Amino acid sequence: MKGVFITFEGCDGSGKTTQISLLERYLRDMGCNVLVTREPGGDTVAENIRSVLLASESQVSPRTELLLFLAARAQVVDFVIRPALERGNIVLCDRFADSTVTYQGYAREQDLDWVRRLNAYATNGLTPDKTLLFDIDPVDGLSRQTDRNRMESETLDFHQRVRKGYLAESRLFPERFHVIDASANVQLVHQAVLEALKDVIKPENWKTGNCAIHP
Ligand SMILES: Nc1ncnc2c1ncn2[C@@H]1O[C@H](COP(=O)(O)OP(=O)(O)O)[C@@H](O)[C@H]1O
Ligand SMILES: [Mg+2]
Repeated sequence: MKGVFITFEGCDGSGKTTQISLLERYLRDMGCNVLVTREPGGDTVAENIRSVLLASESQVSPRTELLLFLAARAQVVDFVIRPALERGNIVLCDRFADSTVTYQGYAREQDLDWVRRLNAYATNGLTPDKTLLFDIDPVDGLSRQTDRNRMESETLDFHQRVRKGYLAESRLFPERFHVIDASANVQLVHQAVLEALKDVIKPENWKTGNCAIHP
């Protein structure tokens, strides 16, 4: 695959969406072809699944929740992410498979081996080149949010399990994960993002306009 696949993970309010737009602008200014997408969502079918999953009034069984997140992922992988990577784009994705491992696996306490296997099926084996984990105490992250969807309205204990799960995953895959202190101010976090990606998106390739080359 010619492109570069970067995923943004972390608790709600950790700054993923804010940092994706800063990085998108930075990369576009460099002349890169960037595709930004989010999970669950990213195309019409997946956005419809998103509204079912996140509606506050939805009563969703843990198994349904897992399968719907995976269904949305399969859709966006096949129709959005893989085609963009084949075109050579830099793909920035707001949440991906690690969210399922942490939220449905660690926090919702569903069997981790099952979750991993189903994830592999849903992604058809697609793994991010780099995953940025925005780490923050959920108390601070959630206090930045005004509106809360169904997942965000979970207990603090749930969000603490999410944080622990993310950190456990980052230790299992230290090559792919880069943990960023998300409690710092927006500009400092942005600098940490650029630093984390310097080997994946090489500035020397930007000059040739061929900006999405693997190291
Ligand atoms: N580093 C930061 N410090 C303080 N507030 C932040 C920071 N990053 C983002 N915010 C604010 O916190 C809220 C949640 O940020 P957002 O990027 O939407 O987080 P996420 O997408 O991870 O849920 C927004 O109002 C945003 O402006
Ligand atoms: Mg967001």
